[in-house]
Amino acid sequence: MAKHPVGIEGSGGIEGSSDHASFEAKAYDDDVTGPEAAWWSERRQAARSYAAGYETPGSDAHFYARRLELVCRLVQDCPAGTVLDAGCGPGILIERLQRTLEAPFQIVGLDVDPGMLLEARDRVGPRDDVRFVRGSLDDLPLPSGSFDVALALGSLEYTDVARSLSELARVTRPGGTVIVSMLNPRSPYRLCERLIQRLRNSPSAHPFMPRIERLYTVEQIGALLRGNGLLPDRIVYYDMNLCPPPFDQRFPRFAQDVAERFEFLARSPLRALGTAFVVRCRIPRAGS
Ligand SMILES: C[S@@+](CC[C@H](N)C(=O)[O-])C[C@H]1O[C@@H](n2cnc3c(N)ncnc32)[C@H](O)[C@@H]1O
Repeated sequence: MAKHPVGIEGSGGIEGSSDHASFEAKAYDDDVTGPEAAWWSERRQAARSYAAGYETPGSDAHFYARRLELVCRLVQDCPAGTVLDAGCGPGILIERLQRTLEAPFQIVGLDVDPGMLLEARDRVGPRDDVRFVRGSLDDLPLPSGSFDVALALGSLEYTDVARSLSELARVTRPGGTVIVSMLNPRSPYRLCERLIQRLRNSPSAHPFMPRIERLYTVEQIGALLRGNGLLPDRIVYYDMNLCPPPFDQRFPRFAQDVAERFEFLARSPLRALGTAFVVRCRIPRAGS
């Protein structure tokens, strides 16, 4: 029997969640035995190793810390309500939002990877105001117009972006907010990564880093957002990492120090060189 279902059944505040989501969710548990256990253990390990990047000294820790700060600030400006964290990974943003949001929010964490969901559930602990759902951003198993805020941070790089944005727009109510992030393909850091990927003929320079070909410029993302009825009202670049790969991986503390010292450039005319950006959008109300 599942001791710890990862599901949305019984969720308060998220009305009409589909049977598909509940059914899928109930099928996952960390008490699996037999041949499946190795697969589960591998997924859990991958999730833990990703989560460790937030705390291990290095440029990744700087990158994640900046994004957390920035997104918490942007969500803080939204009125209380329901939040979807799509591609929630190990739940670090959810845990931070719980700690920092002043207004009461109901949060749904969604991910395609059950290992990430289990990690997120353990991090967040039992709470009435947080639920987890297994599903894909490309086909969200959630009702239309059910969220006040929808977030996709560090996840669009792995999905069909146009499809995911259309799904985020669908599940967010008119007047609601959508916040997405994207790695910036124009930053010198990403250009170095691209060079390394080419030289090594490797899909990625980092286990959780998607191929740079999947990255979109701010203009491309803007066009896709507008095409899906989302109106960008704030673009913020972050992470002015001046220590290029692979040096930042070799000298992680030095790289973090350099990144912290130069982060002020993200508020200068050079900001568009940041390694990533966040876009906040509004969904217009009917007639506005
Ligand atoms: C780089 S991690 C980011 C996790 C988290 N948002 C964070 O900022 O720490 C990317 C996450 O997207 C999830 N993901 C990838 N493809 C997805 C999809 N099609 N639908 C939902 N989640 C997906 C992965 O399982 C992973 O947890």
